[in-house]
Amino acid sequence: MVKVKFIEETGTRRDVDAKEGEPLMYAAKDAGIEGIIAECGGSAMCATCHCYVVEAPNGPLPAPDVAEADTIEFNAETPTEASRLTCQLVVTAALEGAVFQVATGR
Ligand code: FES
Repeated sequence: MVKVKFIEETGTRRDVDAKEGEPLMYAAKDAGIEGIIAECGGSAMCATCHCYVVEAPNGPLPAPDVAEADTIEFNAETPTEASRLTCQLVVTAALEGAVFQVATGR
């Protein structure tokens, strides 16, 4: 398991154990992270799993692919350079200690 942290829309910080090889969205949903809705089920279409990368202590995360980047640009309410769709972010050991802020206003 890889330990990451989510900051919910209310500011509550939650520790989450994420399974390597699975989309980060699954771990967030399993942990009941508030604000991670994942309406499209992980198809990179809805942006309701949108988070901001706050800390990535092991170096930058792999860049979003075109589908993820397009959905962030066109469907996310407040995209930034730190935006990611958690359904497209596969958990690896490199995510250990990473912190994600749940995006508000989708
Ligand atoms: S779950 Fe819909 S874009 Fe991630």
